[in-house]
Amino acid sequence: MKVVAGQSSPLLAKRIAEKLGCELAKTTYKVFPDGELYVRVEGVKDEAIVVQSINSNKDLVQLMLIFDAVANADIIAVIPYMGYARQDRAFNDGEAVSIRAVAKLIESYADRVITVNIHSEKAKSYFKKLVDVDAMPLIGGYYKGRNVVMISPDLGSLNRVKVASSYAGCEFDYLEKVRLDAENVEIKPKSLDVGGKDVVIVDDIISTGGTIVEATKVLKDLGAKSVECACVHAVLAGDALNKLFNAGVKRVIATDTIEKSISAISVADEIAKVLLQDS
Ligand code: R5P
Repeated sequence: MKVVAGQSSPLLAKRIAEKLGCELAKTTYKVFPDGELYVRVEGVKDEAIVVQSINSNKDLVQLMLIFDAVANADIIAVIPYMGYARQDRAFNDGEAVSIRAVAKLIESYADRVITVNIHSEKAKSYFKKLVDVDAMPLIGGYYKGRNVVMISPDLGSLNRVKVASSYAGCEFDYLEKVRLDAENVEIKPKSLDVGGKDVVIVDDIISTGGTIVEATKVLKDLGAKSVECACVHAVLAGDALNKLFNAGVKRVIATDTIEKSISAISVADEIAKVLLQDS
């Protein structure tokens, strides 16, 4: 068995390989002058654990090429960040259900698929056999012993925040969000008991940062002493991190499902546990 590290998840792949006590396959990745990708994977025989987050179109094409390169082996796909999952239905007539297309593609190659906090149950429903690892206990554990209040920026993330807060041993509450378009959200004013408290906003994804910026404004208006945020998937599109700091967010942390400088928590153990359980 070999672990194959895609270019979006080299560190996490290495961590998983170490936990499993197996080697990384030798990989070569290149881009041709016209932009097409090239992939070579050496030394894989019977089983390949392919680790690659989908945080860009390039990641998705590379994943497909990795699958093809190891197609003679049994493939387990570890997709720590399952991109395209937010388009989990046709919101307007004629729209592609992106995650349905991605699920079909992945399952046409992989015998098993493992991900971390896929965006929604609806997105999960397009896979035949997906194991969805929950990173919320890890986020909760990170804050254990700290006197904070965890806040969900919307109802959709409330269950996640409940789990995180139970591991942190702290209070939790939620805000109500209305999405205006891809980049803009409105957080409805609401009375919350955050006056003078250190608050941690917990979400599954930080993409443009719009949600956290708006939530931070509301929490500061309500008298929060400080605002930090924690997420599973640090997409951080464009200048998102600067936007967060400009809004007064004190600290941002995430897991390593997307490898960023703020990845303070690793999901390697949890993924390795699933791989070991079912092997
Ligand atoms: C939405 O349902 C998600 O849980 C996140 O709140 C959202 O994806 C964050 O996006 P952004 O950072 O662009 O506001």
